[in-house]
Parts: sequence; structure tokens; C-alpha cells
Amino acid sequence: MFWATLLLFNGFLVLFLILSNRSRIKKEPPLDKGIIPWLGHALEFGKDAAKFLSRMKAKHGDIFTVRVAGHYVTVLLDPNSYDAVVQDSVSLDFTRYAQVLMQRIFCLSLPNHNPTTERAMMRRHFQGESLACLNGVMQRNLQALLATEELQDRTNWKQDGLFNFSYSLLFRAGYLTLFGTEQNSHNQDLTAVYEEYRKFDSLLTKMARSTLNTEEKRVAGSVRQRLWNLLSPAQFRKAEPSSWLQSYRQHLQEMGVDEEMQTRAMLLQLWATQGNVGPAAFWLFAFLLTNPEAMSAVKREFSSISLQANPPHHLPLDKLQCTPVFDSALSEALRLTAAPFITREVLHNNTLRMADGREYNLRKGDRVCLFPYLSPQMDPEIHQEPEKFKYDRFLNANGTEKKDFFKGGKRLKYYTMPWGAGKNVCVGKDFAISSIKQFAFLVLTHMDLELCDPASALPEMNATRYGFGMMQPEKDLPIRYKLRDPL
Ligand code: HEM
Ligand SMILES: *[C@@H]1O[C@H](CO)[C@@H](O)[C@H](O)[C@H]1NC(C)=O
Ligand SMILES: *[C@@H]1O[C@H](CO)[C@@H](O)[C@H](O)[C@H]1NC(C)=O
Ligand SMILES: *[C@@H]1O[C@H](CO)[C@@H](O)[C@H](O)[C@H]1NC(C)=O
Ligand SMILES: *[C@@H]1O[C@H](CO)[C@@H](O)[C@H](O)[C@H]1NC(C)=O
Repeated sequence: MFWATLLLFNGFLVLFLILSNRSRIKKEPPLDKGIIPWLGHALEFGKDAAKFLSRMKAKHGDIFTVRVAGHYVTVLLDPNSYDAVVQDSVSLDFTRYAQVLMQRIFCLSLPNHNPTTERAMMRRHFQGESLACLNGVMQRNLQALLATEELQDRTNWKQDGLFNFSYSLLFRAGYLTLFGTEQNSHNQDLTAVYEEYRKFDSLLTKMARSTLNTEEKRVAGSVRQRLWNLLSPAQFRKAEPSSWLQSYRQHLQEMGVDEEMQTRAMLLQLWATQGNVGPAAFWLFAFLLTNPEAMSAVKREFSSISLQANPPHHLPLDKLQCTPVFDSALSEALRLTAAPFITREVLHNNTLRMADGREYNLRKGDRVCLFPYLSPQMDPEIHQEPEKFKYDRFLNANGTEKKDFFKGGKRLKYYTMPWGAGKNVCVGKDFAISSIKQFAFLVLTHMDLELCDPASALPEMNATRYGFGMMQPEKDLPIRYKLRDPL
């Protein structure tokens, strides 16, 4: 017994030394393991990744390798060199790390998953002609929801938090548009899906990092179960045959995925399609409400469109194509609050070539991570006063979209990256932009919406969410609203 224990202990010790004894080899990026064995920098990383990575950048420069919970992650922060990562799907793999997260968050494994066919299917439904059709459905759903919000009362203000207001409207309208069928489109069902989803969302980062405590694990499990019940295949039997939903279900069936896993995949899709749009609309409105000049510029643009509409004030989808002021304000809001990690797994030892000619070796099994929030988005060399919301930052003096931004004297291809870039760029980008635009147009042209306290400041961002897409506020921003014109 004693010998067995000793052997086991020695085994662990050897394993520990092998894992922790890694040192920097010639031509590898600077290595920073942190002082805690195995965990490395995981705690600091999880608490506020932006702060941690800024500190590492000041110490090591724009490329370095850190140890995080047993993994070695090479962080690249030079936007001029991002193409070397986002365009390379041969040595760097998107799917493996995505599957780790799928398992941890959604308890989902899709062994025969073919990302290429899935992406092609998604493109078919979210771009081109299908997109125009989706936009029309989204518009009707947004209007219907706003109209039923006990809003017909046009004299009394209603109060809510801006985050809850934006998220709930866009989530429910988006759900109806993409997942809606006769069976599951009743108001109670919609509200139930939204409310359960919000609980799930608040535990999502901890699920991804496997840091739930016992109580949180129990809650996460039961919320997930309730969402699975709401999203079971029975709910979708009568979906439109030509819809994205039906194509996706068929895609799963062709892979041989059973009904239980299909349900779990639905929750994954709910997150991918609805998890970022509401928070993005929140930040846009939060910035507009606290920047009167920006608000009047966007309102001016919308009212000139609204006047051209026939009948007047009707939502003119075709005219909403050309909205340079709104587009700039949205890009600016996203620049300040979209903070995804772009993570890839290194499939075999290879060399990363930086734009300035430096070369670094990458080791098989490590991860490479871009964090465009730090650079380009918050980089003072690229965007003057980066912490300020300037609604016209992406506008030229002649009113066209500004695309010229520089770093180190070089014109940048990537000067803001809320949607990722390259091979795995967001498939839903155009649909997301158009949904937010329709929401903004409806609210600004048909409703009165104001801060309860005109002196309110923008809420802080919840720093634990860096790396997971759109940031969320630490607390909500109280607003009041009422319908002005009939919808
Ligand atoms: C404001 C809203 C949104 C933001 C900020 C956003 C952001 C992103 C980002 C950063 C990625 C790339 C991840 C990577 O390269 O590692 C991504 C991928 C993706 N997004 Fe979005 N997204 C949004 C809305 C949507 C919507 C509405 C849909 C669907 C209708 C959608 C569908 C997808 C899909 C399917 C992918 C995976 C692409 C692939 O596997 O190649 N997104 N999104
Ligand atoms: C959040 O929004 C939902 C749906 O609109 C609403 O029922 C609920 O009362 C709101 N919650 C708060 C705290 O305002
Ligand atoms: C910050 O986000 C985390 C993860 O979503 C959540 O658990 C926590 O309650 C949030 N904190 C605040 C103050 O909202
Ligand atoms: C990859 O590189 C590491 C470090 O240089 C080395 O120890 C390892 O043997 C290499 N692996 C392969 C498959 O070449
Ligand atoms: C508007 O200004 C930008 C930059 O100043 C210039 O590149 C572009 O050609 C101009 N467009 C028009 C239509 O004048």
C-alpha cells in the first residue's frame, strides 16, 4: 500500500514537473507561467482579462505566451498581424476549442460535426435574398411586440432598465423570427424562454471556465433542463420547411444526432443567434442617451428617412439601407463594448510570421488567442481618446464611411473587429445589424424614451465577461418610455 502510494505520488510529481517545467525555447514568444502551479494566470485572467492582458502587453510586447489552467495560450495583440491567424485554417483550428466550450456550456457533443457544410448552410439562410425575407419577418415581430407591451397606453410612462428592455425585446423578436412556430409563439412561452435564458446567460462564463460552485452547478443544471424542455423537437415540428430552423434540424439528423442532442444543439443556436444582439442594442442606446449630440444626429437621419416613407412613418426597410450616421454610431458602440476572444488551437508545430518580419514558433496543442478589444479597438495609436464615445468616428467629412485608420504608419485592414474576421467571421453580422437598426428606428421614431435620471452616467462593464462576445453592464440603467405614434 505504502509503495503504491509512493509510486502514485512520484507519478504525479513527474507529471507535474513535465507540465510545469516548460521553458522558452529559441524563437518562441516570451513565456509567462505565473507563480501558481498548473493554474498559472487563470484567476487574474478570469477576473478581468482586459486588465491582465494590458499588464502582460506592457511587460512583454504584442505577443507572449501565458499559462492558464494547464493550457499555454499565445496572445497576439498586433492587428497588422491578425491575418496570419484568422486566414489560416490549416495549422490553426477553430473547431476543437469550440467543441470544448460546447461540452462545458451546453453538454453537447457532435462527433460527426462538419463545420464547413454547417457554415455554408448558415450563409444560405442569413445572407442574400433570405436575409431580406428574415428582415421583413423581424420587423413584423418587433412591431407586434412593441404594440402589445401594454404600450397602447399613450399617456403614462412605463419604467424598466434599458438592458432588460433592449434584451427582452430583441431576444423575443429574434426568437420568433428564427425559432417561432405555431406551438411555441405564445406570449407566456416567449417570456419564459427569455427569463430562463437570462439566468443561463448569467452563469455562462463560469460554465465555460468550469468554475461553478456546488450551488451554481445545481442552478445551472436545472435552468439548462428547463430550457431544453422549452426547446425540445416537439416544439418545432411545424416549422416552415424552407426555414433556417428546418434546415438546421435536417443537418443534425443527417449527422445522425439523436433527439436529445438536437435539443441541446438548439440551445447552442439560441445563444449564438440571440446572445449578443440585445446587449449590443443596449450599449448603443446607453451611449446615445448619455450623448445628446449623437442622439440628435441619429434622430435627424431617421426622421429624414421616415418622411420619405410611404405611408409616412411606416418602417421603410429599403430606405434603411443607407444610414451612414447610424452605422457609425453602432460601429462606435461596438468598438467600445464588443470583446470576443478569437481562439484557435495549434494543430502542428509551425511558425507565425508577424507583419514586421518577426517570426515565432508555435507548439502543437497550444492555443492562439487574439483580443481585438485591446488592439485595434482601444488602442490610442489607432483611435484617439479611445475610451470616449464619438458617434462620428467612422464617418468621413463628406458623410461617407471612414475606413482609413493607421498603426505604425501602416493602413489597417482591421481597425475594429466586433464580428471576428477571416474564415470564421460572424455569419449573422448583416442580420444582427439590421435587427438593431430596425429596433432603434422603431423606438426613436415611435416612442418617447428617456433616462429616469437625466444625470445618470453610463454603467460600468462587468469585467468577468471579457472574451465572451458583447460585454454586459454591472447594473441596469433605469429608463421610462411610452408610445408616441401608433405602430
Ligand atoms: C451583435 C451581435 C453579434 C456579435 C457581436 C457577433 C459576434 C461574432 C463573432 C466575434 C464571431 C467569430 C468567432 C471567432 O472567429 O472565433 C461570430 C461567429 C458566429 N456568429 Fe455571430 N455575432 C452576433 C450576432 C449573430 C447572429 C444574429 C447570428 C445568427 C443569425 C450569428 C451567428 C454566428 C455564427 C453561426 C458564427 C460561427 C461562424 C463559424 O463557425 O465560422 N451571430 N459572431
Ligand atoms: C424585464 O422585461 C420583461 C419583459 O419585457 C418584463 O416582464 C420584466 O418586468 C422586466 N424586468 C424588470 C426588472 O424590469
Ligand atoms: C457579472 O457577470 C457574471 C457572469 O455572467 C455574473 O455571474 C455576475 O453576477 C455579474 N456581476 C454583476 C455585478 O452583475
Ligand atoms: C514541437 O516542438 C516542441 C518544442 O520545440 C518539441 O518538443 C516537439 O517535439 C515538437 N513536436 C513535433 C511533433 O515536432
Ligand atoms: C469622401 O471622403 C473620403 C475621404 O476624405 C474620400 O476617400 C472619398 O472619395 C469621398 N467620397 C466622395 C463621394 O466624395
